[in-house]
Amino acid sequence: MTAAPLSHRRAWRSGIVQQVSPARVVDLGPGYLQPELMPAGLLAEAYQNALVEFGSAALAYGDDRGAAPLRAAVAGRGDQDNVLVTAGSSHALYLLATMLAKPGDVVLVEQFGYDLGQRLLRDAGLRVVPVSMDAHGVDPSAFEDAARAHRGRIAFACMTPTFHNPTGVVVPERRRRELLAVADRFGVLIVEDDAYADLVLDGEVQDMHPHDESIQRGLMLEIDVSEWGASEAVLFSGSKPLWFL
Ligand SMILES: Cc1ncc(COP(=O)(O)O)c(C=O)c1O
Repeated sequence: MTAAPLSHRRAWRSGIVQQVSPARVVDLGPGYLQPELMPAGLLAEAYQNALVEFGSAALAYGDDRGAAPLRAAVAGRGDQDNVLVTAGSSHALYLLATMLAKPGDVVLVEQFGYDLGQRLLRDAGLRVVPVSMDAHGVDPSAFEDAARAHRGRIAFACMTPTFHNPTGVVVPERRRRELLAVADRFGVLIVEDDAYADLVLDGEVQDMHPHDESIQRGLMLEIDVSEWGASEAVLFSGSKPLWFL
């Protein structure tokens, strides 16, 4: 006889998870998934498979760049040698804030954006300068004004052009090209926080960089957050392998 799956509903309580909504309240603020949508069974199986395949090696300190099989899977999106797996977008942003910038440097950010990301940049001693947005994302002329005003002191600009948080805007290609042209002209590195592109339901959405080489690729650094990358879907919030391309 096989045991019926346990209900883990009772584990959704303070002290175990970050926040619990009152009964009958669906809190859309933090973007939490329904408990039933979390693939606990799938994950249990995946962990078991990994332990069978890698044994104690799976429990050792891993490769600094992330496990090779994961990096190889991610490499479908780029060169494996350029893949660094981190524990979520915030970890990646922290690495950038401390390695690409020094305290006092300017980071250009969207007028509205991921609040904790901006806080993390401030905590690293960086000067966070918001750039105005309109209905299609960051305003290229405001971006140009900011790039000119802070020339020489800008560590990077951080943007989420696809399913922007909190507006949901997908920046049209023409606007992306205009922003990249400004970045190119002023030598500003754009960091794309691509946290949500895999949430697309129909078709594909673009990366920040158009795939022809008319704009210098060297200016783009993409933070790609795709939980369990191969699945092309965001599966659950508490575990976020992430990679740089
Ligand atoms: C644009 C953006 N980036 C990143 C994150 C989350 O980062 P992490 O992977 O560190 O949880 C969020 C979460 O709200 C977000 O909106």
